Amino acid sequence: MTNSPIPRAGSLLQFGNETKAAGLPSYQFNDSSRSISIFDPDLPAPWINYLSNGSLHAFVSHTGGGCLWWRSPINFRITRYRGWTHPTDGPGFYLYVRGEDGAVWSPAFKPCETPISQWEARHAPGVTTFSGRHGEIEVTQELFIAPDCETLVWNVAVTNHGSRETSLDLFGYTELGLLEYPLESSWGYYVRHQFKTWFDEPSQAQLYLFHHESHPRLSEVPLVYFASDREVVSYGGDRQGFLGHGRTERNPIGVERGHCGNGSIWGGDPCAAVQVKVAVGAGKTERLAFFQGVIPGAIANFTESKEKLCAELTRLRTPGFVAEQRARLDDWWSEQFGGFDCKLPDLDCQRQIRTWTPINCVQTGRYSRSFSQFASGLRGFGFRDTAQDMLAIVSRRPDWARAEFLRLLNHQFADGHAVHTYYPEDKQDPARTVHSDDHLWLPLLAYSLVAETGELDLLSTRTHFLGEDGKSKGAEATVWEHLLAALEFTHTHLGVHDIPLTLHSDWNDCIGRFAREGKGESVMVAQQYIFVLRQMIELARAYGDEKASTLLSGRMDAQLRAVTAHCWDGDWWMRGFNDDASPLGSKTCDHGRIWLNSQTWSVLADCGTKDQQVAAMDSVAAILGTERGIKKLHPSFPTFPEVADAFSGYSLGSGENGAIFCHANAWAVIAECLLGRPEHAWKYFRQLVPHLALQESGVERYQCEPYAYASSIIGPENPRFGLATLTHVTGTAAWMDIAGTQYLLGIRPVLDGLKFAPCFPPEWSSFTANRLYRGCRLDIVASKPAGHAGAVCALLVDGERHSGDTLLPKWVAEKKAARIELVWEPSGVEASPCQLPVTRERR
Ligand code: GLC
Repeated sequence: MTNSPIPRAGSLLQFGNETKAAGLPSYQFNDSSRSISIFDPDLPAPWINYLSNGSLHAFVSHTGGGCLWWRSPINFRITRYRGWTHPTDGPGFYLYVRGEDGAVWSPAFKPCETPISQWEARHAPGVTTFSGRHGEIEVTQELFIAPDCETLVWNVAVTNHGSRETSLDLFGYTELGLLEYPLESSWGYYVRHQFKTWFDEPSQAQLYLFHHESHPRLSEVPLVYFASDREVVSYGGDRQGFLGHGRTERNPIGVERGHCGNGSIWGGDPCAAVQVKVAVGAGKTERLAFFQGVIPGAIANFTESKEKLCAELTRLRTPGFVAEQRARLDDWWSEQFGGFDCKLPDLDCQRQIRTWTPINCVQTGRYSRSFSQFASGLRGFGFRDTAQDMLAIVSRRPDWARAEFLRLLNHQFADGHAVHTYYPEDKQDPARTVHSDDHLWLPLLAYSLVAETGELDLLSTRTHFLGEDGKSKGAEATVWEHLLAALEFTHTHLGVHDIPLTLHSDWNDCIGRFAREGKGESVMVAQQYIFVLRQMIELARAYGDEKASTLLSGRMDAQLRAVTAHCWDGDWWMRGFNDDASPLGSKTCDHGRIWLNSQTWSVLADCGTKDQQVAAMDSVAAILGTERGIKKLHPSFPTFPEVADAFSGYSLGSGENGAIFCHANAWAVIAECLLGRPEHAWKYFRQLVPHLALQESGVERYQCEPYAYASSIIGPENPRFGLATLTHVTGTAAWMDIAGTQYLLGIRPVLDGLKFAPCFPPEWSSFTANRLYRGCRLDIVASKPAGHAGAVCALLVDGERHSGDTLLPKWVAEKKAARIELVWEPSGVEASPCQLPVTRERR
């Protein structure tokens, strides 16, 4: 299935006379291969893809810009990417093709930018392919990371469409960095003398060894190689020597003169360049590859590393090996997609739910909020961020989510609170500011893991807290004790209204501004606490801890009482209280009168009456709704220099200050599903689908990828309304996955089983889905007469009728596959206008 290409008015195509005609498509989704083809290199921002085998990683833009790193972009950053010069986008994985006539071009269009007659960049899961044609020669450059080697493979095919044999020179080039990126940025002018580049005859590889004696993981520092499966004609490790004086990657002297210069340096500006020659007969295609990778442990044992290098390159050069690796990579992704699939009447939502959201969730699972064309890579893993990201990994890779969950628990202190940021791959101390919400995301992940797998013994697994010094191991406790400690911390940190203190901040990074004296309180955390208490009470009952269940029920009632007594503002929920106990997010405020999160979370937590919840979400629609998504708050706060002590430095309508904060929009989708209001729910969901968001604003305004979520979209109080910021590394991905699969399509794991509560748009009559559930592949058919208002009242499991809306695991325990059909309440029965959240239901 391929959607029609998106025409771009007044296309900026500049790269070839034949393709200059305006109106050419700028991109097109290829749904059957789950890829996107981009036809215009001249985009307002780099549109990137991530390539990875789980330990070696890269991102690459639509014109070949990008960065390669091993394990961590903080201490093992292999190549350079000048993120600060956005939107320049470079350097990257550059291939130069030099014909017999000396003309030079690049299949990725950059760095040469030579006009070429055909061009396409294709991003697919884990693979990016550039294809270009210059005269009679067509070259494709496919980039992916081999699952079984720490190697970025550049798979190249050269086709000669002409009528005589021709000989070409191909040059692969990357700019190398000093591995330790923070050190390079501060002390690079000294440290740049602490490496060597050279060509290694036995392995026929251009090598690089960074040997700064204080590297935090010195024993793992790798040997970096760049090699080919063809005979190497020339090579270079000296960037200056390869590029030439006053030149850039666009016109290197090494390519112009047809020889890399064979430069080796013991300090300075490193690069890796390799030249090979290929003769291609008329009508023939020749294949070759370049390999850029690492052999860890080179300083600890250099001789062994050199031996491993030879063995690795022998493997990589073995005919068929690269193709095999590519197939293994595709298998990994097929398994990933196999967890959930769907066929919907709405193709844009279908594409997003079945392909691009799951891809984005793998990236946030791997990179948290850390590294992209916009993000520096220095941030490590956010505690709250990872706890939420893993919610979307649970159903497809429960083992991954479980391991990350246990690691989170190791970053929780014995008093229940958690670090704010941790660095799993770097010897770096965690960030220790105390936030009111970080630890409260743990129960959500625990609930989700148990609901998905049915493995209650997770709760009795023992693992350690973090020691008080923030470095050593603390006492060991069961997972259940860790979760109870998290709740205890919140219980012992309540303010004058008996709702949680905001502390350094809640989910909203900047909200601590209202709680500097330590007295400010957060309504969102109160609601999150109630949500979590509901889940914990369910878990306590399932786990057989009646004492905890009773204790937590009392605390939940008390918290509900506190919120309903103090936090209702008439038409919506306040957002909190300032240090002086005055309300935040109230009609009495000049700015930030209404905030999105306390409205959505009142529904998620089932806090207040149904009328209040509906009124709150109506206020969201009326005051915060825009044609491009929902603002985080309104009106935005004036900032410096208008006020001396601003809420935040964020300009009006951006970031925390009134942008369309996409992550928070996903909770609005869920809230509207729970209220049984499909028109609102689907509208909010569609506004965030990147392809639709781009169409709404136009590519010049929206700028970013039509397939990856944006962290925020600039809001209407700012002249750049509609501009997407910081794509890929955002919590939007995980919550849009949950909103799409568990609430809109309503296929939701709960402790008892798999619940079916789809939020059908009135015009839909059916959809199908396929989901792996505890080893059984479910073929789900949801058909409903259009406009029917009832809820699911029974399930047909391979034709056998079971009443209720929840599939009990025992019904499919013996099966490898089952067909599930939804049976609806008889027509005319009113749907409950407010479907209950998962935690409130009991069977
Ligand atoms: C950013 C942060 C995240 C925070 C959110 C809202 O995305 O990474 O931790 O919750 O902003 O402030």
